Amino acid sequence: MIDAAIRAYYERGDERDRLFAGGERLELVRTRELVRRYLPPPPAAVLDVGGGPGAYAAWLAEAGYRVHLIDPIPLHVEQAVEAAAAQPAHPFTAALGDARRLDAADASHDSVLLLGPLYHLTERTDRLAALAEARRVLRPGGLVLAVGISRFASLLDGMRQGVLADPLAAGIVARDLIDGQHRNPAPDRFPVWFTTAFFHHPSELAAEVEESGFALQALLGIEGPGGYVGPGWHEPSQRDGILAAARAVEQEPSLLGLSAHLLAVGRKTEDGGA
Ligand SMILES: C[S@@+](CC[C@H](N)C(=O)[O-])C[C@H]1O[C@@H](n2cnc3c(N)ncnc32)[C@H](O)[C@@H]1O
Repeated sequence: MIDAAIRAYYERGDERDRLFAGGERLELVRTRELVRRYLPPPPAAVLDVGGGPGAYAAWLAEAGYRVHLIDPIPLHVEQAVEAAAAQPAHPFTAALGDARRLDAADASHDSVLLLGPLYHLTERTDRLAALAEARRVLRPGGLVLAVGISRFASLLDGMRQGVLADPLAAGIVARDLIDGQHRNPAPDRFPVWFTTAFFHHPSELAAEVEESGFALQALLGIEGPGGYVGPGWHEPSQRDGILAAARAVEQEPSLLGLSAHLLAVGRKTEDGGA
């Protein structure tokens, strides 16, 4: 059961181009870098849970991975099927599904990507259910790559955009900072801000992954400080420096929350236990 605001947000159809508008976005470039670093080599079997229109699934399939994508938004699944059809030499599959109840068999995958579902599972019990399902379908030794949005994302983005004096924006940010429950009551006024979501404190994401029985391998900031500080990714001459900065402090605990997105890498230990 997907919340009506979340469904309406994705039915606008913006997700397919989000990571590619104006060239490849910092989020995409760094997420790919980290996914490549942690995934086992192809042809490992990857389940892309909440894979949307297939930005990562298509790329991984092209690299030789065996990829299946699931997503609860029918438009996203249609777009993912189209993306797969557009690369017949590197196929992948896509179907409707929910992170909390996966159809995949126990121990059937080498890696599970959760690059999005945890944002929209606003109840902790649902996030833990999604992580438990990821663990169930992983083989012993397999990895989950789980991304959360930083608790501080709307504060930092609001500063960058100069909208914090607006009482509506300030109210959204204030609630995010209190409990991470992000709500956008006027998406027509703040169309670039996200829909119904939970924004993690870095320590919460790590704790949820560990509590779900994974051995935490790493907790990383994806974009790094250059996502919000400095001249910005839209300046091509700045990109190498922004990427270097992201790598330099990707595991620095005091700076993790400065990245809009956080990646937790968890391993299902060989004995299947914690
Ligand atoms: C911001 S998009 C990210 C899409 C893609 N993984 C990416 O990183 O480009 C979040 C995705 O999570 C999906 N999602 C929302 N709730 C979900 C749930 N309960 N189970 C699985 N996916 C969900 C949405 O449909 C959407 O495709």
